[in-house]
Amino acid sequence: MTWSSLPRIDLGRGVHFAPALLLAPMEGVTDPAFRGLILDCNAAGSVGAACTEFLRVSQLALPARRIAEELGPARRDVPVGVQLMGNDAALLAASAVHAASVGAAYVDLNFGCPAPRVFQHCAGSALLEDPPRLERLVAAVAAACPAPVTVKLRAGVRDDARLEELVQRAEQAGAAALTLHARLRIESYEHPADWSRIARAVRATRIPVIGNGSADTPQRVDALFAATGCAGVMVGRGALQNPWLFEDWRRARAGSPPRRRSPAAVFAWLREYAGRMQARGAPDRAAVGRLKQAAKALARSGLLPASDVLRKALRETDLEGFFAALGGASGCPSMVPR
Ligand SMILES: Cc1cc2nc3c(=O)[nH]c(=O)nc-3n(C[C@H](O)[C@H](O)[C@H](O)COP(=O)(O)O)c2cc1C
Repeated sequence: MTWSSLPRIDLGRGVHFAPALLLAPMEGVTDPAFRGLILDCNAAGSVGAACTEFLRVSQLALPARRIAEELGPARRDVPVGVQLMGNDAALLAASAVHAASVGAAYVDLNFGCPAPRVFQHCAGSALLEDPPRLERLVAAVAAACPAPVTVKLRAGVRDDARLEELVQRAEQAGAAALTLHARLRIESYEHPADWSRIARAVRATRIPVIGNGSADTPQRVDALFAATGCAGVMVGRGALQNPWLFEDWRRARAGSPPRRRSPAAVFAWLREYAGRMQARGAPDRAAVGRLKQAAKALARSGLLPASDVLRKALRETDLEGFFAALGGASGCPSMVPR
């Protein structure tokens, strides 16, 4: 299979998701260190796009400098977007203009966050209950922003009765593509997501639909494409469980087996992750928290052996202790970051 035969999405204005397999925004996970590492550890051309975790826009437009910090170093190889969440059209539009000015390849609007603190303030998934307002917000941002604008929706709050209307209003407002996380707000992150909602969204609109939810292995990515006819797939927690999922998917499409990842390679990945967090000035405690989150996910997919050694590492509170403990499991005693 050649590069050109992989699914791709053209957002217009010179921005492409190629291939159309995206890393999902995840608050507390996809900071610039993690995002950059996912983009770098997969073979070039395996990850089609990534974006910041949501940036809340409430009282004021977000300053360009704050957005640039979240965006991280500029990349020419992969479009990196900025995700905004709010309910004030003027503030969202001004923030989107700032995002484009500091290099956001596209701006994504979050209409999926289920968190009560967000919902109570009528942002994120709360806007799914008011499709006309959602349309006005998207239209204001799309009119102001020089970069393409995309939206990320859940299928509804308590039911999915207005799914088609939501999708069509996003299209009408000028969204270049939309991601549908195929769960309701009340379903939180339950497994599995209902992919029939993605198929409904595909039928309801002409803009590219990116399916999301429970596509956590290369096989399930392909199953989601096949079951729904979606133009792209977005992977969230699966990327934490297997950071190389994107490359594995591309290899599978070409008929090649995934590369074997030894525990030592996985630990080296964790060490690189730690190094990137340290380089961004993350305090030891915060970095260890992120590493534990990653180690648990890696153990769920079997990339890291679930053992007493891992359990001991998960009890450590500093980087040195964490890597010293984990080194025992890998047969690589020198896992302490330099
Ligand atoms: C820890 C965590 C944080 C998340 N933060 C965001 C976010 O900032 N913006 C967003 O649009 N979705 C966020 N999501 C939702 C994911 O982008 C994705 O839609 C969801 O996890 C379903 O995909 P998955 O089944 O592949 O994980 C988050 C999900 C998780 C698990």
